Amino acid sequence: MSSFAAKVVAWQKRHGRHNLPWQKVRDPYRIWLSEIMLQQTQVVTVIPYYLRFVERFPDIKSLACASLDEVLAVWSGLGYYLRAANLHHASQIIMNEHRGIFPRNFDSITKLPGIGRSTAAAICVFAYRQKRAILDGNVKRVLARCFGVAGYPGEKKVQEQLWLKSEALLPKRGIRAYTQGLMDLGAEVCLRRNPDCPACPLHRSCVAYKAGRVNELPAPKPRKALPHRQTVMLILLHKGEVLLVKRPPTGVWASMWSFPEIAPEDEVHAICAERFAARVREPKWLPPLQHGFSHFELNIRPVLLQVDSVKQQAAEPGQLWLNFEDAKHAALPSPVRKLLQQAMALA
Ligand code: ADE
Repeated sequence: MSSFAAKVVAWQKRHGRHNLPWQKVRDPYRIWLSEIMLQQTQVVTVIPYYLRFVERFPDIKSLACASLDEVLAVWSGLGYYLRAANLHHASQIIMNEHRGIFPRNFDSITKLPGIGRSTAAAICVFAYRQKRAILDGNVKRVLARCFGVAGYPGEKKVQEQLWLKSEALLPKRGIRAYTQGLMDLGAEVCLRRNPDCPACPLHRSCVAYKAGRVNELPAPKPRKALPHRQTVMLILLHKGEVLLVKRPPTGVWASMWSFPEIAPEDEVHAICAERFAARVREPKWLPPLQHGFSHFELNIRPVLLQVDSVKQQAAEPGQLWLNFEDAKHAALPSPVRKLLQQAMALA
């Protein structure tokens, strides 16, 4: 075993994480689910979502038979909802094309929606003990520092270099402890800010540590200022019910339920009458909310509107008046859930 892998494995056995819920199983479905949830979310946040998800959808078949709405409702609050839609879609492909059995073959796994090279490798390692290299954001950081790889790891050339490293370092034995060890080091020791280098089993040979360049590596993403967008969210209340609208199947918050939105320059009363056949009282403006997406910042100005009257049969498809209890269980993005809670407290 390379001394790199040997150090990672020995460190993982003593100091790594051993009691995460998805470490106790070999079921590829659960391992796949955990890897998808962990793609953009930290372990502490993932755990309760993971447990609820496997309780509600214990296997591939139950997931494939559910509606996208049900899946999104359980995912609600975890963010990056395309992950849930891809997971759902992939479960149906597995039912139709793999007889309901999660594939073992690496190339078949990477063909499933939402599973890239690193996620497929992690599944192969943890579910099937295959010898595969991973390269998620945390592992990129560990390798870039340890081997002094310059440049932003999102850049193709830099990424190719890191993949070569990751492949070359694989141990002959102990692939699971090694892979988990790399993930644990990246998540708990080799942090982006204030890494705990003295606790790291690799620090004696770490290029960045020895050169005092830990804070410079890996190079950050060349930043473009994110554009800001403004929206007004209408929280329409009528006889203990709130109006929700279904978002389009693509774009941010795809297929989730949200409040109707208007542009900041639009006139509230006129729009309510036109679009929702609702006569509203004086608007009550709530404090604005900022929400960051990967590609823009959204500034939300929420407004609470008591509806005096609403024409029967006025709701169009994709519009729903729901009581608060039902609304709480819908697939709502986090800021919408937060606003709903505020509205319930004020109503
Ligand atoms: N991050 C990505 N995959 C992980 C896993 N299996 N355990 C802990 N953190 C992870």
